[in-house]
Amino acid sequence: MSDDRNKEARKVAKIMVANMHANMQNPNFEEKKEQLFQEAKDKVFANRKLIKIGIIGCGGIAQNHAFSISLLENNARKIWKWKESSQKIKPVLYALADINEEKVDAFAKHFPAKKIFKGANAGYDLINDPDIDAVFILVPTVYHLEYVLKAAEAGKHIFLEKPAAFSPEDVQKMIDARDKYKIVLQVGLVMRSASPIHYLKKLISDNKDKWGALTNIVYRDSQRKPCTGDPTHPSTWRKDKNIAYAGVLFEHDIHDLDGMISIFGEVDEVYAKIKNFAGYEGIEDSVAALITFKNGVTFSMNCMWNDIVYDSRRYELFFEKSKIRIIIENSKVRISVKYLDEPDYEIDVKTMDEFFFKKIGMPHVKAEIPGPYYAEDLRFINAIVENNIKSDIKAEYGKYVQEVIEAIYHSNEIGQVIKFRPK
Ligand SMILES: NC(=O)c1ccc[n+]([C@@H]2O[C@H](COP(=O)([O-])OP(=O)(O)OC[C@H]3O[C@@H](n4cnc5c(N)ncnc54)[C@H](O)[C@@H]3O)[C@@H](O)[C@H]2O)c1
Repeated sequence: MSDDRNKEARKVAKIMVANMHANMQNPNFEEKKEQLFQEAKDKVFANRKLIKIGIIGCGGIAQNHAFSISLLENNARKIWKWKESSQKIKPVLYALADINEEKVDAFAKHFPAKKIFKGANAGYDLINDPDIDAVFILVPTVYHLEYVLKAAEAGKHIFLEKPAAFSPEDVQKMIDARDKYKIVLQVGLVMRSASPIHYLKKLISDNKDKWGALTNIVYRDSQRKPCTGDPTHPSTWRKDKNIAYAGVLFEHDIHDLDGMISIFGEVDEVYAKIKNFAGYEGIEDSVAALITFKNGVTFSMNCMWNDIVYDSRRYELFFEKSKIRIIIENSKVRISVKYLDEPDYEIDVKTMDEFFFKKIGMPHVKAEIPGPYYAEDLRFINAIVENNIKSDIKAEYGKYVQEVIEAIYHSNEIGQVIKFRPK
């Protein structure tokens, strides 16, 4: 039990004892006990807004979210302190659902929840539970659309992992449901909550005159195939295009493309060569793409899935007079800057985090764990608190990046540069 919950339990107990003393002489005390207990509880919890969260899909990424939710629960008093006088906001992990009984049981040992749903209908049972306010949809991509439409109809706020759906048209159906049922819909485009991405944009803007033009961006990402069932990636669905739709770009580097879009804006042209070495039909494992933004910046992406035990993303941004290098490994980010003949210097994570939390209007918050998942989940809960149904990480961003990816695939098919036009 968290400290906060202990405090509240003690408060309830105190009121109950006071009530009992006052009623001890009452000959009907035994009969009234339950009612008195209920009245005491109502009094204590009257101004508390619990946000009861259900997770559908208790696999790999669910661990990150469940951990973040538990930290947000513990830190709720600090985070939403400005709401204290009126309402005490508290997100709680309330329910878990998974079609696989063993998975949900194992998960519940680490992240206990009041309600557990199992079996083929588990996700729908969770969605239809009237006690639940918000759902995290953390299942393979093919199941996203159906769950989102049902959850929206049931009035639940939705956090949906990326890629949102198989096609931009299906993402639009989700957006329409969000607008119809007035629920928060946030897509897990986690780079939008990564402090280094926000800080990078600031660095570029602050040093515009000093560094000269941004001439080239080189990005490369090597990830061990996340579909062979090895211990680091125990699930295998990513090799089946009927479940995953596509490979490394769609499933993994969608994040990085979206991160660049968040900095440089609209895409103008794309050109790509895409290959498949592992032989999983429709699942690309090698992508070389050139993306030109409307502001003239060119971004070259090399993304690959292979068997090397070496997961590493690297960005290098070359300006006329300087260079920024970003390395992301094991959720740790290192950014270094080199200017002319001066020695490289690194930017510390604390500086980037402080800048980020200030920028999103929550300067009193600090990152409780490395990596962006905590901030991403914080922003989702805060969108519910603020009734900001589009959330700051709009589902429209999810649709846009998928349209760019479709254009990249199309460029490879026809062997030509594609002039990108969003639908
Ligand atoms: N943002 C990120 O960095 C990130 C990282 C990994 C995965 N993801 C995304 O999260 C989602 C899940 O990926 P994962 O790696 O956690 O997968 P996973 O295979 O590890 O876990 C998926 C879980 O969902 C359960 N499941 C499958 N079908 C279900 C259904 N119809 N209803 C209920 N439960 C069902 C499985 O039993 C499993 O426990 C995918 O959309 C993936 O792209 C995002």
